Amino acid sequence: MTTPAYSPGLEGVVAGETAVCTVEGGLSYRGYAVGDLAEHCSFDEVAFLLLHGELPGAARLKEFNTGVAAARRLPPPLKELLAALPKWTTPLDALRTAVSALGHFDQDAADNSHDANLRKSERLLAQIPVAIADHYRLVKGLPQVLARQDLSHAANFLYMLRGAEASPEEVKALDVSLILYAEHEFNASTFAARVIVSTLSDLHSGVTGAIGALKGPLHGGANEKVMDILLAAGGKDGAEEWTRAALARKERIMGFGHRVYKTGDVRAGILKAHARAAAEAAGDATWEDTADVIERVMAAEKNMYPNLDWPAGRLYHAMKLEIPLFTPIFAMARIAGWSAHIMEQLENNRLIRPRALYKGPDRRTVKPIAER
Ligand code: ACO
Repeated sequence: MTTPAYSPGLEGVVAGETAVCTVEGGLSYRGYAVGDLAEHCSFDEVAFLLLHGELPGAARLKEFNTGVAAARRLPPPLKELLAALPKWTTPLDALRTAVSALGHFDQDAADNSHDANLRKSERLLAQIPVAIADHYRLVKGLPQVLARQDLSHAANFLYMLRGAEASPEEVKALDVSLILYAEHEFNASTFAARVIVSTLSDLHSGVTGAIGALKGPLHGGANEKVMDILLAAGGKDGAEEWTRAALARKERIMGFGHRVYKTGDVRAGILKAHARAAAEAAGDATWEDTADVIERVMAAEKNMYPNLDWPAGRLYHAMKLEIPLFTPIFAMARIAGWSAHIMEQLENNRLIRPRALYKGPDRRTVKPIAER
């Protein structure tokens, strides 16, 4: 048996084929540049594109939105389960549990056909924001807010969370962030989902595993850590000194660096303008000014550039969303990409089972227990 080539962290390894998205020549979803989508489409249209392969016309979009909006509710026992979770359960952990539990209630749970997976994907797209908002309000002791069927994915989420409609500017900024978060090729959480369903497991199991992978601070969890960095830097005046000292201590500046993008992440550039506009609308650009200083130091000292989490963390903070909601919001968008990849994997499946380079002891024999 020949020893396969080894690349730590699978860096540079092509681990499968996809028609959903590419990072080659600039990030695009199903052939459309992400900047083009962010400028001309809503998240709802982009979710349709990812799930169905084409952008919808007006009538098809209306039909899709009506179906998704009608599914914006949780089975009553799931609300009881969310209420029974310990009060210290983080919103992302609660969401992971909710998605796992939703599998029990889905009539298509065990059906892995394309049509059934499409129905489950659209239901999860609808249910995930409801689960996040319901858990948030339960923990705060606030009355539940029923979903609105006339609002978009982004607008309905803000409405359910706050109990009041958000401004068009806030809805637009959140919507753009959701488009940018919706899909990203073989990132860790999507790859985890594909590995899970490659065993012919089900879609809810794949998404539950993906949420677990998203949680870590090297992946989606970074958007929550961004505010820790900015708060620790303390403002623009001390930011340069703080960043240099953190780098000297070999600390990671969360929101910077990327496995694939070494000269910058186009998504970060697009969302930066929205983060500053939201901060200025809220009357406090402190963290935008601080971020600019940190960006300059990171480019000069490490030749390292922001990823999408860097402006997203600031945008959500400027919108007065609480930090533990940031990664669940990422999940609320990435569900579109996860589902598209799960369906694609199952359409041309082969079990994902790589090899390991063995580093353990040489072959030895078992001694009787009295001699060990
Ligand atoms: N700040 C400071 N140094 C960094 C950073 C950072 N953000 N990222 C990487 N480095 C350094 C590492 O310490 C390492 O240095 P060394 O060679 O002296 O040990 C070197 O750069 C290479 O780091 P790796 O972790 O091997 O690079 P990799 O390609 O595996 O990592 C990753 C990519 C995980 C994103 C990394 O850049 C990181 O940890 N960034 C911070 C977390 C973050 O923002 N994650 C979000 C990813 S994007 C997303 O989910 C939307």
